[in-house]
Amino acid sequence: MQLIKRCPEYVSGYKEFCQELYDHNIVYFRPTRPESIDEDWFSRTKEWYEKKELGLIEGQSPSLHYWAVDGDKFIGEFQLRTEFTEKVLTDIGSIGYGVKVSQWGKGYGTEILHLGLAIAKAQGMEKVLFTINEKNAASIHVCEKLGGRLEDTIDAYNEAEGQHRLRRYWITL
Ligand SMILES: CC(C)(COP(=O)(O)OP(=O)(O)OC[C@H]1O[C@@H](n2cnc3c(N)ncnc32)[C@H](O)[C@@H]1OP(=O)(O)O)[C@@H](O)C(=O)NCCC(=O)NCCS
Repeated sequence: MQLIKRCPEYVSGYKEFCQELYDHNIVYFRPTRPESIDEDWFSRTKEWYEKKELGLIEGQSPSLHYWAVDGDKFIGEFQLRTEFTEKVLTDIGSIGYGVKVSQWGKGYGTEILHLGLAIAKAQGMEKVLFTINEKNAASIHVCEKLGGRLEDTIDAYNEAEGQHRLRRYWITL
């Protein structure tokens, strides 16, 4: 498995990944709405993602986006926010990632994080913050397995998850 930059060849796989997360009503990681991913979607959003990577989208932390693929199979997504803005610290964390629901439990989530943490280190980051809904047992398990150190649990709110308790974990790189 590898993490690659977004590219047109995997758009249909990406759409299936988004569809599965929506179909299973997964609120912990909200990908693109599948119905918006049409033939023009990649070219239509390319410039926006490039700006996002450079931190040029008003009010948003710079965010690197990768797709996890295994041969021609689309596996998941990895996002890295490289600055500790207020929103990163109290809501979204440094890392957002997800695995296609039909591929859960095969070690892909752990592998994505291994590769993703190496990217964070190469970006010059010394630590990353994971923010995890306390009901998200699988993500908590993977984070703790990779050395996540619990700092605290805070009250949080966002549209997808509603009011919830949010665990904040640091991983030192
Ligand atoms: C979290 C997620 C990425 C894990 O992906 P995955 O490919 O299933 O991960 P892995 O197979 O590498 O590991 C899953 C681990 O969680 C464990 N696990 C799964 N469900 C669990 C549960 N309910 N309670 C405790 N542990 C659980 C598995 O046993 C496995 O542990 P092991 O490696 O020690 O055997 C995946 O569930 C997902 O995409 N969830 C929705 C998006 C999300 O929550 N993203 C993170 C936001 S913070």
